[in-house]
Amino acid sequence: MATDVAIYAALVVYLLSVVSIFERSLFASSLAKVAISSSFSSSSSGICFIVLSNLRSLTNCRLTNWLSASNCSNIKLCSFSIEGEGKLSDRSLAAQEQAWEALEKSIIYYHGQAIGTIAALDPDISALNYDQCFIRDFVSSALVFLIKGRSDIVRYFLEETLKLQPKTVQLDCLKPSRGLMPASFKIGSFNGREYLKADFGDHAIGRVAPADAGLWWIILLRAYGIATGDTNLAERSDFQEGIRLILELCLVTRFDMYPMVLVPDGASMIDRRLGLYGHPLDIQSLFYAALRASSELLTPNKENQNIIHAVYNRLGPLLKQLRENYWLDSERLNVIYRFQVEEYGEEALNQFNIYSDSIPFYRLAKWLPEAGGYLAGNLGPSQLDCRFFSLGNLMAIISSLADEQQSHQILNLIELRWSDLIGNMPMKLCYPALEDIEWRIVTGADPKNRPWSYHNGGSWPVLLWMLAAAAKKMDRGELAHHAIAIAERRLTEDGWPEYYDGPDGRLIGKEARKYQTWTIAGYLLAKELIADPSHLKLIAFEPALSTIDESQKSKVESQK
Ligand code: GLC
Repeated sequence: MATDVAIYAALVVYLLSVVSIFERSLFASSLAKVAISSSFSSSSSGICFIVLSNLRSLTNCRLTNWLSASNCSNIKLCSFSIEGEGKLSDRSLAAQEQAWEALEKSIIYYHGQAIGTIAALDPDISALNYDQCFIRDFVSSALVFLIKGRSDIVRYFLEETLKLQPKTVQLDCLKPSRGLMPASFKIGSFNGREYLKADFGDHAIGRVAPADAGLWWIILLRAYGIATGDTNLAERSDFQEGIRLILELCLVTRFDMYPMVLVPDGASMIDRRLGLYGHPLDIQSLFYAALRASSELLTPNKENQNIIHAVYNRLGPLLKQLRENYWLDSERLNVIYRFQVEEYGEEALNQFNIYSDSIPFYRLAKWLPEAGGYLAGNLGPSQLDCRFFSLGNLMAIISSLADEQQSHQILNLIELRWSDLIGNMPMKLCYPALEDIEWRIVTGADPKNRPWSYHNGGSWPVLLWMLAAAAKKMDRGELAHHAIAIAERRLTEDGWPEYYDGPDGRLIGKEARKYQTWTIAGYLLAKELIADPSHLKLIAFEPALSTIDESQKSKVESQK
């Protein structure tokens, strides 16, 4: 009884502080969480409700998502949110003003026309390759520009980067492969004439080529069409060829027989060795989204016939493989724990011959909440990488690669493991970090990727927009509001760093650039998506894949 009174008293104090935060923000919501013992009872929910009802009349707000996770068993967390109109906080206003100004400054011009944004504009550190426009980095800026009606920048970017894509077969390892999109480009000048100088990884640290650039390019081309209604651009024959060549590079038969795309380590935003060779989730999620986008963008004609067939043939098996074999939740953990090994033939349940001893069951069983789940980081022969990768999981929700229940479970995990995955800065690029001997062997003892730094368990504010999009898509906007509020507290004061370090994301990244453009654009994009969720259509995909497929498929059949 005494404990109950203490819990309720704490609850009231907490709620009052939530309201005071709420009153200072416009269109803000605050997430209130109360840890309740495992014997969470209806009377405690009743009291929460009464307190909240009173707060509603006080603040003229509306209660949303009451007990958002109440459909899940064994809930130990009572979670609710309030949304409504208050005053826009000074902090939020200042942050947005500063961000718009910084984004404007980051724009680069080619032949007098805006073509992209520079990676970072840090006045205090040497630029290295941060003076370039990275394709992956530009996506956040591009989506903001599309939302704000500045589609001319995005169009020019798409047109000019397409020209950088090699179009002929290369049997020369020193040249970029046909279809590869560059990681980045910068503007050079020769005899007073400007030209674009592409980097396909040939100048990057470790000489890593980007597998994600082409996939993002296709996803962005679709967003451009949706935002502007201009389908002519994607229908142009050079654009159709560009899409085909990117897809051919991904769909080509190689030395494996999986539906996932096979990539080397460091072929994504994690452009250093981090144990990601093979079939990393981040790339598979982007691959799925790019396949879905291509199925909309490719004109059904004779020339595209084979590639469209290949796209449809790949979508189903890819979806199944990821939803089934990458998935980790309590139930699945039990199955893997008791896996038979060394099975031979098509009926094998443990298709990848995962040895139970390779999975950190003790840690996972403690960490993974009953209501949560996620897609594992990588899958291959005797390999299941159980690290949580944010980009892959969030893009899986956004693209509907994860089904509805899985999407909620991923968001439950983020909510219930908030201090691990969000902490002081949204959000961890991967969790947990590789430490000690694992860090030494897997990263090659990379000092930039030491435990809880940079890619190895660092926190990247750019991921905020993907979190906002995923949360809003699943009608759980309170998660996004809460994450944005946390980011707002730090970003302006800290000068928009590229990443944060430490298990809880408290430290500005040791070698982080300041005024990193995708940090700035990611924040603005998250704000735009929350303010007007109709913008989600630029990036999100509906789950009803089969019907879209069938109509497209029949169009192709009729061309034969
Ligand atoms: C770093 C990041 C990469 C990013 C680039 C430019 O190399 O690892 O993901 O694209 O900086 O910001």
